[in-house]
Amino acid sequence: MSLLSVRGIHKTFGDNQVIQGIDLDIEPGTVTVIIGPSGCGKTTLLRSLNGLETPEQGVVSIDDIEVDYASKPTPAQIRKLRSKTGFVFQAHNLFPHLSVLQNITEGPIYGNKQPPEEARALGRTLLEQVGLADKADAYPGDLSGGQQQRVGIARALALQPKLLLFDEPTSALDPEIVGDVLQLMRKLAREGWTMAVVTHEIQFAKQVATNVVFIDQGVIVEQGSPQQVLTNPSHPRTREFLRRILDPLADEESAS
Ligand SMILES: Nc1ncnc2c1ncn2[C@@H]1O[C@H](COP(=O)(O)OP(=O)(O)O)[C@@H](O)[C@H]1O
Ligand SMILES: [Mg+2]
Repeated sequence: MSLLSVRGIHKTFGDNQVIQGIDLDIEPGTVTVIIGPSGCGKTTLLRSLNGLETPEQGVVSIDDIEVDYASKPTPAQIRKLRSKTGFVFQAHNLFPHLSVLQNITEGPIYGNKQPPEEARALGRTLLEQVGLADKADAYPGDLSGGQQQRVGIARALALQPKLLLFDEPTSALDPEIVGDVLQLMRKLAREGWTMAVVTHEIQFAKQVATNVVFIDQGVIVEQGSPQQVLTNPSHPRTREFLRRILDPLADEESAS
């Protein structure tokens, strides 16, 4: 059975139909990479999976929790759904006035009511795993962007979610530290975490993804293995998108 099942998601902002009927399944232990042009609805879809966004229609099931957005889910139902996920944001969103360790333990202690000692022990273990064992007492402002994002990932892991959601986790980073974060994500994939990753890092997708989903204008245009979607895309829109991101100067050249 799928870990995540999404059926018929529709989300509108005003008269902008952003998600126009998306179905998606994610199997346990797999990595799904979501690609698509800016504004096509990737963030909105990801946020709809854990109730950060409220679609008008659609059913999302994660593990043993099912939310039917058409029947006005209660805040408690949304909280249960969200507790199944860990979300890694584009900008890490750490609390600047809390230490690294406090940032990681905040959710488990106050959200999940985990005993503080236990949460701190897990937090230190996770900091070791993301290569920041010596930064527990540092503040976010003392860390590089890449280190901050690795804390953001540790914070998501601390909630012990079933599904990790990444929304362009490296797009706000300096190029030379993007690799650190991608390597950490590859390690998590190898450890068996189930992940949905919005990213433009095509090499990462080729190496790590189980499935690649190409979204355009709020619908899934094409999905399949990295080989199918990235190397041999069958849809012209997928080919056009890949051409643009792999060779950003191509248009200019053909125009001149
Ligand atoms: N909170 C919001 N209010 C109004 N419009 C929004 C909101 N969030 C996203 N949108 C619009 O929805 C569309 C898809 O946005 P988004 O999901 O962020 O796309 P992507 O992540 O693929 O770049 C865009 O047209 C964006 O302007
Ligand atoms: Mg986005």
